[in-house]
Amino acid sequence: MSASTKGTAKAARGADEVILGPTGRPYQGFATPPKLEGHGPARIIALCNQKGGVGKTTTTINLAAALAGYGRRVLAIDFDPQGALSAGLAIQPHDVPTIYDLLLDTKRDPREAVVHTRVEGLDVIPANIDLSAAEVHLVNEVARETILARVLRKIAPDYDVILVDCQPSLGLLTVNALTAAHGVLIPLECEFFALRGVALLIETIDKVRDRLNPAIELDGVLATMYDPRTLHSREVLERVVDAFGDDVLETVIGRTVKFPDASVSGMPITEFAPEHAAAQAYLRLARELVARGAVA
Ligand SMILES: Nc1ncnc2c1ncn2[C@@H]1O[C@H](COP(=O)(O)OP(=O)(O)OP(=O)(O)O)[C@@H](O)[C@H]1O
Ligand SMILES: [Mg+2]
Repeated sequence: MSASTKGTAKAARGADEVILGPTGRPYQGFATPPKLEGHGPARIIALCNQKGGVGKTTTTINLAAALAGYGRRVLAIDFDPQGALSAGLAIQPHDVPTIYDLLLDTKRDPREAVVHTRVEGLDVIPANIDLSAAEVHLVNEVARETILARVLRKIAPDYDVILVDCQPSLGLLTVNALTAAHGVLIPLECEFFALRGVALLIETIDKVRDRLNPAIELDGVLATMYDPRTLHSREVLERVVDAFGDDVLETVIGRTVKFPDASVSGMPITEFAPEHAAAQAYLRLARELVARGAVA
């Protein structure tokens, strides 16, 4: 193992001292994004990994809130029938229009399903268990992979960024998200099986690029639940960096119980514990994505 992934290491080089981040590149704080002159049309980013529990929903909620905090207009789409994104932002998706209704009737105005959250600048289109029927209902539709793209096209002018929180599967819903997206963000949990299945995910993205959405880009691989105190976590991150190089975002999300606590409270971490390192990490992720051009 190289010294580069041993947490945040200091490498003394003569008089200059270079602080290395956990991915082994020099640490950067990333500048506060400049205010936007105008808004929209949104860049659409799908958060995908068919492995469960890697931090897709946590990242969608907290990145969305962080970007809203920087004055971006953000729409988060709950694209998982479990409705964890909706619940994590204290939205009760019962008896309200959901993303499922929009998929079933693409003539409907998607604004009907938008819910404002208590975070200024952050809106959500919720989901509930109805969405689990979508794959069956949509399978016989014409152009079944482009249904979400057609829904989002109508609402994209209202936002600067749309984040789509995918379910842990590579089924038709995820293919819809990848077809609608300009970019894809892959959260990877820093644990032993992190890379298992990632080849299949990359293959799926490549197929979508080839057949449905030639412009889709990999916006980044985000290491989550990183614990710099364990050799294991550091080794996994090193392997992820070996596999993805500079596509691994410099911002790494540490493991902390603050996330489950924040979810229970229905608040993003940036509101629940704004001073906590975890809130600061998502703010930094937002700045990094702006610096990389993934978000306006
Ligand atoms: N950095 C973290 N540190 C500790 N716990 C975390 C962290 N990120 C997420 N969690 C917790 O891990 C669990 C799974 O996270 P999350 O729901 O974001 O994953 P997911 O990829 O969306 O899961 P699913 O595939 O089921 O949709 C949640 O209980 C969440 O609170
Ligand atoms: Mg989830």
